[in-house]
Amino acid sequence: MVTITVDNKEVQVPSGVNLIEALKAVGIETPHLCYHQDLPVCGNCRQCLVEIEGPRGMALAIGCYTPVSPGMKVATSVSSPRVAEARKAVLEFLLVNHPLDCPICDKAGECMLQDNYMMAGATNSRLSPEVGKQYHGNPEHSSIDSKGQCRGGKCIDIGPRIVLDEERCVQCSRCVRFMQHIAKDEQLQLMSRGGHTYISTFPGEKLNHPYDRCLSDICPVGALTDKAFRFKKRVWALSRIPTISMSDSLGANIWADYADGIVYRIMPRCNTEVNRSWLSNAARDVAQELHKNRLLSGDISAASKAIKETTGKIAIALGASCTAETIAAFKKLALSLGERAELFGGSFLPVQAADGIARSGDPVANRACLEKAGVNTNLGELSKRAAEFELLLTVAADLWDENPEEASSLNKIPKRIALTPFNNSTAKNSTLSIGIRHWLESSGTMLNCKGLEQKLQGVPTNESLQVKSAKETAEEFLI
Ligand code: SF4
Ligand code: SF4
Ligand code: FES
Repeated sequence: MVTITVDNKEVQVPSGVNLIEALKAVGIETPHLCYHQDLPVCGNCRQCLVEIEGPRGMALAIGCYTPVSPGMKVATSVSSPRVAEARKAVLEFLLVNHPLDCPICDKAGECMLQDNYMMAGATNSRLSPEVGKQYHGNPEHSSIDSKGQCRGGKCIDIGPRIVLDEERCVQCSRCVRFMQHIAKDEQLQLMSRGGHTYISTFPGEKLNHPYDRCLSDICPVGALTDKAFRFKKRVWALSRIPTISMSDSLGANIWADYADGIVYRIMPRCNTEVNRSWLSNAARDVAQELHKNRLLSGDISAASKAIKETTGKIAIALGASCTAETIAAFKKLALSLGERAELFGGSFLPVQAADGIARSGDPVANRACLEKAGVNTNLGELSKRAAEFELLLTVAADLWDENPEEASSLNKIPKRIALTPFNNSTAKNSTLSIGIRHWLESSGTMLNCKGLEQKLQGVPTNESLQVKSAKETAEEFLI
């Protein structure tokens, strides 16, 4: 920690950080646009102005590019009219060519430009109606508005998942820096100069990357929006639950944003130890798939009877996303069944290399818990020894979709019961299938690939209110 003076008051702040972070640590918000905690600093928006004392007295400086140092004297808009005035002036420049789109803009409600505007205090526009907006963007996309003025391109389809609205771009370069430093695949560039600058892909190319939906999160305004969420729901109508992604064993920290029993989107929840501010497209797609093809029926007592009546061997296959509590419940069930029951767990999907961003590459999210519980995670052994078993109970394990060839040998097992959230191939290849909650709708614990214990919280969706969780179903089997 270091001691600095902020607005004539001595405060203790962490050392080795910039002024935006130092001020945040003592509860002072600094407006910013281009600065992002997980991207290299570029200092181009000039929104984060503060005054710091130098050899020639107090002078304006940008907070994002100024490291904190002991004894530093800082003035924010609280004590310095110059800072307040300068921030307002920068905003006026940023807004001079910005469209009046807030009512139809997807970012409204979580837009940093809106927030900064409110923080600065509303100012009357000095834009002359005769002059109007003068931003044209990429000549290939500019359009003529209802007043006959040439305007920047709107709703530009720059890739399979992202839409660009040129007029709303504040040229902060966050998207460019993300593609360059995080995705390590430079697909976006700021083209042209000065007031003509616009964001673009390279000629003839589309934006297409397994993490490109992150761009919609980090774009501080509504210039880059996510097709999967666009116009689906106003952000202020959403509630959110902090939970963990079971898409792989990293266990990315996420927000599940929902309303009226529907999950509309999954967003990264910053955890510097795990996924920082990033989340793969694949981990987000879960929200779009969650409400499709659900299995909401099933006869638990018929399944329970079938299990109890089985005299031969029983294989229980626990899926990759089972929580520690679910694993424990099925372990208890297996113990109650005695020697005839054998526990397996995992997935037929191959383990791939980590991508260094927010995916471990291991599709078995809770592998550490399965192994800790002594569950055999070699599912290949189950398919090889299929003929030994009389009953197979799969728990949120979509084995027939993951690897139809490998799973086909499991058809040798005469009784096959599937506990599954979806009416998938495993449900179709089973003699009895029962709908259960998805992991997004379940609470519990997972151990990620770094040994970090993380807690899931279930989202109350329309479907989860109709079916039991896997753990509750296991408890029913025990009665
Ligand atoms: S980017 Fe922000 S300020 Fe601009 S139209 Fe959208 S919500 Fe409004
Ligand atoms: S598109 Fe968004 S992130 Fe990219 S430069 Fe423009 S405002 Fe910044
Ligand atoms: S946040 Fe500091 S210049 Fe943009």
